[in-house]
Amino acid sequence: MRQRYVAGNWKMNTVTADSTALASTLIQLLKEVPHKVMIAPPFTVLSKISPILEGSNILLGAQNCALELIGAHTGEISVDMLKDVGVKVVILGHSERRILYGEKNVLINKKLQIALAAGLEVILCVGETLEERERGLVGHVVDKQLVGGLDNISLEHIPNVTIAYEPVWAIGTGKTATVEEANEVHSMIRSRIGELFGNSIAEQIIIQYGGSVKPSNSQELLDQEHIDGALVGGASLEADSFVTIVNS
Ligand code: PGA
Repeated sequence: MRQRYVAGNWKMNTVTADSTALASTLIQLLKEVPHKVMIAPPFTVLSKISPILEGSNILLGAQNCALELIGAHTGEISVDMLKDVGVKVVILGHSERRILYGEKNVLINKKLQIALAAGLEVILCVGETLEERERGLVGHVVDKQLVGGLDNISLEHIPNVTIAYEPVWAIGTGKTATVEEANEVHSMIRSRIGELFGNSIAEQIIIQYGGSVKPSNSQELLDQEHIDGALVGGASLEADSFVTIVNS
């Protein structure tokens, strides 16, 4: 049995007051939960949220990290800076980073290597655009992102990687893939991981679904054989809806 893993990506939302209130509510409501849970607030509040999560069962995540370890990189945040404030997980390859900030598979892979070498866990996001889906390219696109993103990742480090399948057309749009569509891509991702890293890794690796996951659809999605968790954007900004999804 794979562990269930639900992560909240707060994106560019919240300042100190609302982020600390949300984190404090979540640790109360999720105290007894047996699943793995992570929240990724914006960089500016990580050091405020970190002490709140200490001793709780919620992991602190970051939404990105720098490509380099130290030095003249104006505006970037290194993996050591993240670890310094208690971050355990970093989300990489999110479609908003790919599309709005031009991040390509090669760069994403370098970030993965840096984060994993630093001892952080990674959630690697993959997923096709609507146009790619309509052109029948889902398998091709997801495969390229997977193989590119995981290039040169060692067997030692792969257990610290979670994959999030997030069809771009479902993110923040209220549209979700049907459970069959999602499960089919998840199953394809799992077989590909098997080819790349062996069957036992494929059986263990957690594959989250993301894209308009909300309390009304989370149960059905998480009931699917290959959907082991969720990466939640909008619905993670509200304690009740996030908790309902975690409990699905
Ligand atoms: P959404 O975002 O739940 O708001 O669609 C998901 C994500 O981008 O990770």
